Amino acid sequence: MSVRQPADVFPRDFLFGAATAAYQIEGAAREGGRGPSIWDTFSHTPGKVLNGDTGDVADDHYHRLTDDLDLMAELGLESYRFSIAWPRIQATGTGPANAIGLDFYERLVDGLLERGIRPIATLYHWDLPQALGDLGGWTNRATSAAFADYAAIVGRSLGDRVHTWTTLNEPWCSAFLGYGAGVHAPGITDPVASVTAAHHLNLAHGLAIQSLRAEVGDQARFSVTLNMSHLKGQGHRADDAVRQIDGISTRIFLQPMLEGSYPDDVLADTAHLTDWAFVAPGDLEVIHQPLDVLGVNYYFPLTVRALHTSEADASNPGYPGAERIAFVEEPGPRTAMGWNIDPDGLEQLLVDLRTRYPEQPLMITENGAAFDDDLVDGVVDDQRRLDYLRDHVAAVQRAMRRGADVRGYQAWSLFDNFEWALGYSKRFGIVHVDYATQVRTPKASAHWYSELIRRRTLPA
Ligand code: FCB
Repeated sequence: MSVRQPADVFPRDFLFGAATAAYQIEGAAREGGRGPSIWDTFSHTPGKVLNGDTGDVADDHYHRLTDDLDLMAELGLESYRFSIAWPRIQATGTGPANAIGLDFYERLVDGLLERGIRPIATLYHWDLPQALGDLGGWTNRATSAAFADYAAIVGRSLGDRVHTWTTLNEPWCSAFLGYGAGVHAPGITDPVASVTAAHHLNLAHGLAIQSLRAEVGDQARFSVTLNMSHLKGQGHRADDAVRQIDGISTRIFLQPMLEGSYPDDVLADTAHLTDWAFVAPGDLEVIHQPLDVLGVNYYFPLTVRALHTSEADASNPGYPGAERIAFVEEPGPRTAMGWNIDPDGLEQLLVDLRTRYPEQPLMITENGAAFDDDLVDGVVDDQRRLDYLRDHVAAVQRAMRRGADVRGYQAWSLFDNFEWALGYSKRFGIVHVDYATQVRTPKASAHWYSELIRRRTLPA
């Protein structure tokens, strides 16, 4: 007789964990042979990051590794998604590996395994070595080849111990916030550069999977993480508005990676900007690599509408080609980022992905919320974050009941940290960090999350 699991229990192999990224937590920006990244340059450029904050110290995780690992174990995390800082491994982005940098990640990975926590390693969470930035960064095709070499180095030393490898985190942000809107490093505002960067990121992904597979074989799982929203359309050409934004934010990455082609409508929407001559013969075959898991970062839904002929173009520098699409401000509850809270959007997104790619396993690689927390007598009662996480985990479960093959959930973030252009002003952690003392305090949401991991079921 087989033992049936009740329908509301998460499968045993579903991984509940938490996520961070190197530049957001490590600090030690000039130690251990680490070279500067485009985010060091950007954050040290006056006016780019709120309050002039930088990642120089951040959560000082680099020096507090053992304590932080112990905290993860105390919380009962089953997985930990972190990123490797490319400039710690190769200070200038090319050349031999820096042993001190590799050693840090060896200690991290071994420390996780000793505590029974699966390592989920992201190769690129936006901290491109500045030396490669000086040569054009992601607008330069050579950066993709350099990334493949870096992937091989890291794969060679950690390959046998990492549970899941992720090539890129949110390439839309790298390409379109970095080179289009200019609000992220390297701060360039050029639509053609942003589309070019998107292609080179896709190429880097494909090349890196190839080099990782060559080093690691089938011992690990291979993935990429995209930021995805649930898109809703309004107005007279609602479907067209959704199609355009979906094209330039998601399908420009998803379709080449999972199907080996660029969407015709994206090529058409951007034809007035570029002829896509940067796509060389054979590139799409390289980009199209089987993925063991597709990482989904979900935070909020978006509502869009097509402009009427009488209206002036919208200013959407992060969405080249979508000049005639406007974003609609929706009422309703929001986080401290101003992002609408919509767990049903996550359910629908996962179900839509399952419809489009029925065979593709998925993992939530980021989901979470910033709120203004108060630390009172050693306690952070972050009920709104707890509610957010609970409601989104419930949405994942509903999507799974509707057939979505979701393999895990990584809360963003384990710690309060450097929130890019917003510096330390936004707290996403389930663990509070006092930046003056570096004291870590698990918030109520962290205690709730531990309990969820232990019980594997949401309280009714
Ligand atoms: C995502 C990033 C992550 C964090 C969250 C809030 O876009 O991947 O580093 O900043 O947003």
